[in-house]
Amino acid sequence: MLDQASKLRALVDNGNEKTQNGQGIKIYSVASGKGGVGKTNFSVNLAIKLQQMGKRVLVLDADVGLSNANILLGINTPLNLFNLFNEGISLKDIIVTGPEGVDLLSGGSDLFNMEILDYDKQQTIINELSSIGVYDILIIDNGAGISRESLTFAIFAHELILVTTPEPTAITDAYSYLKAISIYKLKDKVKVVINQVPDIVSGEESFNKLALTCQKFLKLELENIGFIFNDIRVNKAVMDQQPIVLKYPNSLASKNISQISNNILNDKNYNFNVSSLKQLSNRLRKIFG
Ligand SMILES: Nc1ncnc2c1ncn2[C@@H]1O[C@H](COP(=O)(O)OP(=O)(O)O)[C@@H](O)[C@H]1O
Ligand SMILES: [Mg+2]
Repeated sequence: MLDQASKLRALVDNGNEKTQNGQGIKIYSVASGKGGVGKTNFSVNLAIKLQQMGKRVLVLDADVGLSNANILLGINTPLNLFNLFNEGISLKDIIVTGPEGVDLLSGGSDLFNMEILDYDKQQTIINELSSIGVYDILIIDNGAGISRESLTFAIFAHELILVTTPEPTAITDAYSYLKAISIYKLKDKVKVVINQVPDIVSGEESFNKLALTCQKFLKLELENIGFIFNDIRVNKAVMDQQPIVLKYPNSLASKNISQISNNILNDKNYNFNVSSLKQLSNRLRKIFG
């Protein structure tokens, strides 16, 4: 990791200082320990909400080989990262625009034509997106678990959002993921969404338990950015291949996701760490010394 960080540092030191829009791109990496906790549903619906609130949002489906954000958005993605790295097709030609103008960069779901997103490739993607200068926000929808890919994306991202459900198995895996984040010193603060909560009280209990354990044993601060209720309409929206915030905007889960979008944009650090590549370099220096 240290070696990788110094490589990136060299690149960004020589790289562009500002993106074309002069503001930079804010990067959120959405990750989890356990699979099936709702990362992709959260990522695409959050993207739509943020887009509705005036931001230009790109979702990167980084669950390479098992990409399914396109299915939830109800769009076709004929090209993916494999075509970018192996056929030289430009990023702009691979990105597909979905509902409400949310753009999607697919990781691909063909296991025989799968791109392994090593550090250099992640660097290339972020670098190109930053210099295109079209987007305000990049949401990276990771595959589950403690993979090299998702840990590396945590380095590039300004904010890591961990999704878990209140189930003990999901919480245990969330803790393991956060332990890796802490061991490699990738972040000292992580945003958390507890999904599929039956009620606020059990959501709060789960969050508090996880937060206290992380504070005590990992010296990692967790920030609760909102709960999402267990809502049958999420399943219905998935079946219809329409994002829930569009299909059932008044459902509980949609309201929860709206609230989380507000929390994200109203975060006092939102503008503070929207970084140009130069700032990204400074941040890495802080992390890796
Ligand atoms: N808030 C929720 N309420 C009810 N079901 C949910 C909720 N969030 C997710 N789900 C269910 O969990 C399944 C897995 O979600 P998904 O977003 O694909 O998870 P992941 O990306 O973490 O693997 C969804 O297809 C949906 O049926
Ligand atoms: Mg997923």
